[in-house]
Amino acid sequence: MNSGIAAPAASARGVIARWREFLPVTAATPVISLGEGNTPLIPCARLSELVGRGCEVFVKYEGLNPTCSFKDRGMTVAVSKAVERGIAAVVCASTGNTSAAAAAYAARAGIRCAVILPAGKIASGKLVQAYAYGAQVVAIEGNFDDALRVVRELGSRPDFAIVNSINPDRIAGQKSAAFEIVEELGDAPEFHLLPVGNAGNITAYWAGYSEFAAAGRATKRPAMLGFQAAGAAPIFYNRVIEQPETIASAIRIGNPASWEAATRAVQESGGAIDIVTDEEILEAQQWLASREGIFVEPASAASIAGLLKCATKIPPESRIVCTVTGHGLKDPDAVRFTSAPAVPALEEAVRRAIGF
Ligand code: F0G
Repeated sequence: MNSGIAAPAASARGVIARWREFLPVTAATPVISLGEGNTPLIPCARLSELVGRGCEVFVKYEGLNPTCSFKDRGMTVAVSKAVERGIAAVVCASTGNTSAAAAAYAARAGIRCAVILPAGKIASGKLVQAYAYGAQVVAIEGNFDDALRVVRELGSRPDFAIVNSINPDRIAGQKSAAFEIVEELGDAPEFHLLPVGNAGNITAYWAGYSEFAAAGRATKRPAMLGFQAAGAAPIFYNRVIEQPETIASAIRIGNPASWEAATRAVQESGGAIDIVTDEEILEAQQWLASREGIFVEPASAASIAGLLKCATKIPPESRIVCTVTGHGLKDPDAVRFTSAPAVPALEEAVRRAIGF
């Protein structure tokens, strides 16, 4: 496993600084970074126990990126390349996380950002981010797939760069998560599970694992298991879903842009695309937060729900990585709880309230 490529400096912060030799950048590319990547790969004892038979489960916590989702890995590359080309503005369609990342990196670069969002369908934390970072927000009467169609038309203008994952620079940056996992585990895992929406991330992970195997940095590649929400599962059902519906708004997508590439990744890896219901997603979200201390948004919990669904089919002693793609605070309204009534400000009353 000695590729002859020098290990990145431990002090390197940010996807471009750390993985430059695997990315489409040159010395002339300005680096627009917020120190993204290098997220924790958390060993999960309780989750491993649930899967059983000596399997080891790790969670790659992508909510700890600068805008709290995995999108930052691709956005640093896409915005850096757009600035190198002298582009005046970046534009994207989004279910919320891409727009948050685009807005932040555009702000950092000092260029304009327009985000095209399905009206009324964006989780509150994500919408707040787009406005806070100073993006021009356009809500359309339609869903994500309609927004992406409009963005493709806008992108034919020379002064705009599309920063959705149809831009290969995005996929290139997102490969870095697979690199980090291989470095940390010493090899690729046997299985990699992740949620699937527009299908860019599963494509990027597969490209990353493949590139590291080809460079001699890994001896194998994992089976890729992608999970769609049952009401928004075009790849699973092999047909466009006109009205996708799920509580996991980030993956409420009926016609994914990277459909073919994702299908190829799944086939080449010996993996599968499966579905999880909204109830399974919410249960997994709550379980992961309350049992492992990892709070993720509903779409991210699809990988955990998927693991619980297919655990018995995974061979003993497997190493399993689940990517959880976005932070739980992105979508606070998805968490169900009942606020406790106020009690007098007295030690005894508080003790009684907590049952001690
Ligand atoms: N998880 C989260 C939290 C996401 O925001 C997304 C996609 C996915 C999973 C699925 O990744 O699209 O590469 O298959 N969000 C996009 C957005 C669509 O606009 O933020 P994918």
